[in-house]
Amino acid sequence: MPWERPTNVPYPNVWWTFDAPDPDCEDGAMATYRVEDLTEDRIDDAIKLFTEHFLDDEPLCAYGQIRHDPVSYDEILQFWHHLFSEKCTIVCYKEGSKELVGANLLSVKMTNDKIKSERMQKLIAVNEYMTDTFNLFERYGVDKYLTAYGLSVKSRYRGRGIATEILKARQPICRAFGLRLTSTNFTAIGSQIPAAKIGFKTDLEMK
Ligand SMILES: CC(C)(COP(=O)(O)OP(=O)(O)OC[C@H]1O[C@@H](n2cnc3c(N)ncnc32)[C@H](O)[C@@H]1OP(=O)(O)O)[C@@H](O)C(=O)NCCC(=O)NCCS
Repeated sequence: MPWERPTNVPYPNVWWTFDAPDPDCEDGAMATYRVEDLTEDRIDDAIKLFTEHFLDDEPLCAYGQIRHDPVSYDEILQFWHHLFSEKCTIVCYKEGSKELVGANLLSVKMTNDKIKSERMQKLIAVNEYMTDTFNLFERYGVDKYLTAYGLSVKSRYRGRGIATEILKARQPICRAFGLRLTSTNFTAIGSQIPAAKIGFKTDLEMK
């Protein structure tokens, strides 16, 4: 049975708030940011964020040239929509602004049996290979865990600790969803550093 968001967890919910430098203030002043559930009215903005600030920057998508192959591009859009329908994706806003600063595509379960394009199959296969090689379910004694398929921070907000703070929302989310584990294949140095900083343990590392 596919995973469903527990009905007792409020939606949309604010999961995390934090202060970080505001790129719109030259004197390095801080702004307050919040991390909350993606809502339907902001789906187009989330797609825009991942299209413009993820596809060409994230190492696997960039290497796989996902954006440049129409079938792969179409499939990744469909995949994102599938993830959005699970109501796990979180987004980050600066207080007082509607601009989407960042987002993390979270999921408790993934269906990949309909993936056709070779490029997308490779992306999925890398994830599954990592999980299977480490034998994640058995090692941690879980039958489900919170995973992620994309972390993006808008270019002009990068280098301010925002990804680090977005990752911190995993803890309250796991607690609310009754999950004991979160695991991610962090594919970029810019996400590996934040993950290590907030206590993610490296179980498997591959060049
Ligand atoms: C990765 C990404 C989410 C990081 O967002 P961010 O808000 O800038 O991240 P943070 O500021 O919290 O932390 C980034 C850390 O990585 C470091 N870093 C980033 N790029 C680096 C590089 N090329 N080499 C060395 N360190 C790097 C930063 O210095 C910072 O560490 P510090 O705080 O110790 O200085 C953002 O760059 C992005 O959206 N990239 C494109 C998509 C992507 O690759 N996503 C990750 C896939 S798992």
